[in-house]
Amino acid sequence: MTPPRYFALIPAAGIGARMEADCPKQYVPLAGKPMLRHVLDTFAASQTITHTFAVVGAEDGYIGGILAAAPHLAGRMTVLHNGGATRHQSVLNGLHAMREQVDDGDWVLVHDAARPGLTAALIDKLVQSLCDDAVGGLLAMPIVDTLKRGGTDHRVQATVPRDGLWAAQTPQMFRYGLLRRALEHSAQVTDEAGAIEALGLQPKLVEGSPRNFKVTLPHDVALAELYLKGIE
Ligand code: C5P
Repeated sequence: MTPPRYFALIPAAGIGARMEADCPKQYVPLAGKPMLRHVLDTFAASQTITHTFAVVGAEDGYIGGILAAAPHLAGRMTVLHNGGATRHQSVLNGLHAMREQVDDGDWVLVHDAARPGLTAALIDKLVQSLCDDAVGGLLAMPIVDTLKRGGTDHRVQATVPRDGLWAAQTPQMFRYGLLRRALEHSAQVTDEAGAIEALGLQPKLVEGSPRNFKVTLPHDVALAELYLKGIE
């Protein structure tokens, strides 16, 4: 039996309206490169990853510029122009399109284009933690703040115990066959782990890093650049 391989799948078909930028969030420039390019460079440089697939929208007019500026990505990645209306649908469309090149037992690391702080070391930590796991899992951060549930009037309704609570990050890493089945059968989920959980399975939590945060709001750009410039 051939050992399983590791593929990356990057959903990058969103708009990121909360960023209020002139272009889709994943193309906002950060430390001299579009956000998505940081992620593609990290996966392309990883010895662990066999190949990367990026899912963009059918009308995407930006990815061509990234590829033209980064010839080293050729051969290390494939662009799929079949993004969907939701992240869930974009990931599922990507899984369908990569079918010919991937076996059911191969691992897929799904990673948000909006998390440019991912490093090769974090990829390897996730892979080493899960390569012998029956289910798979995800990078996540233990919650350190006290949590409040607020009402529409912004008044505290309750303090939520934070014991055992984690904030999910990506990559989320599952075997191709299981992940595809889970996403095909789940109703709308906001991450891959949610679809696996709906099958009654328990993904493993692997501690990530603050630098792997999701760039969402305009002020996140400065923080992301601090992290990115720190390693360049
Ligand atoms: O908007 P948000 O930051 O939650 O999106 C997370 C990731 O999912 C981003 O990389 C975004 O481009 C992607 N996405 C997608 N297709 C959508 C919506 C979001 O690929 N329809």
